[in-house]
Amino acid sequence: MGRKKFLDVALMILFFVGLSSNFMSAQIHETAGIIFIAGIIAHNVLNKNFYKNFLRGNFNRRRIINNATIIFFAASVVTLVISGGALAEYFSAPDINWRSIHLGAAICSTVALFAHILIHASRYVKGKTFYAASMLVFVLAVGAIFGLPYLDRWFHKVEVNRAELLRGEKLNVDGKILIVYFSRVGNTNFPDKVDAVSGASLMLEGNEKIGNAQMIAELVQSVTGGDIFALQTEKIYPANYGETTQVAKQEFSSGELPKLKKLPDVDAYDKIILIYPLWWHTLPKPVENFLLSTNLSGKKIYPIVTHGGGGLGESIDALKISTQAEISEPLDIYSSDIPSSRKIIFDWLRK
Ligand SMILES: Cc1cc2nc3c(=O)[nH]c(=O)nc-3n(C[C@H](O)[C@H](O)[C@H](O)COP(=O)(O)O)c2cc1C
Repeated sequence: MGRKKFLDVALMILFFVGLSSNFMSAQIHETAGIIFIAGIIAHNVLNKNFYKNFLRGNFNRRRIINNATIIFFAASVVTLVISGGALAEYFSAPDINWRSIHLGAAICSTVALFAHILIHASRYVKGKTFYAASMLVFVLAVGAIFGLPYLDRWFHKVEVNRAELLRGEKLNVDGKILIVYFSRVGNTNFPDKVDAVSGASLMLEGNEKIGNAQMIAELVQSVTGGDIFALQTEKIYPANYGETTQVAKQEFSSGELPKLKKLPDVDAYDKIILIYPLWWHTLPKPVENFLLSTNLSGKKIYPIVTHGGGGLGESIDALKISTQAEISEPLDIYSSDIPSSRKIIFDWLRK
């Protein structure tokens, strides 16, 4: 194998190692990323004739598609590098959602990589084999577009530094605030070793597991002050993510309202900031039970919904029929965006 081919195969392997970031430590992911970039530079040096001849000769359809793919691939990789550098804090970057940008760039570069390989393969592979390879590439690209966000949502374990996330501008709010949240963490007996939990989708600070809604509750409190109340059910939900979805499904089909250990004393508060995860496109049954069991008339609820892509779902309609309280304009936060959501929460609360 020539050195060009050897490098290309090594680059492809590194790319897929990088894509499997949900299953490895951040350190391995970053190292794979840095070696990949060094490899990409070497690939460009070895293929420098591409640049020399960039404007020379005829531009047939194949060449135009090839160039467009390479430019798209290059733009995706540059975005991947910048967002990766910002996430790893190699430089100080503006406070925007670098995680989503990084994930988007990973999807774009995967699709571009497949297209790039296919275009070059078309020189050697013809006829039926080429069509079969194209189909395979198409399936893999579609798999990447839908699969990567899925892996990110279900298997991602986010290491957070609370002190850092909670730092920032504070807001003066009239009236007393109670922050009520419901989260999987606090209602589940997780094993000590989080790697033992399949489909974890958890936030961690060291060994401590933090629920998504819980993290949002703490972020809200860091902006507005106020008291926090965690809704806890008498029943314990399974540590396995998939099994929890089945238990919740059963609650929806049976209409069961899981009993709560305690209800908050809401009398002293004017405003309730209610934070919950979207469950099966709607309000989790334990949260519905809280609303049905508490007299909230005359109060105002500010709902924040955390979700894995479903947004608010139908949860606000379910909320409205479960309480007398006035409901404000809601906020929804995609689970992976929580660590970078303090500013979004601040702006929403200010409004
Ligand atoms: C039982 C269950 C059902 C879920 N249903 C949905 C859903 O319909 N749509 C969605 O976008 N996310 C869904 N999710 C994902 C959660 O809304 C998301 O991971 C949320 O951030 C979890 O918050 P938590 O860690 O505080 O429990 C579901 C999660 C569970 C456990």
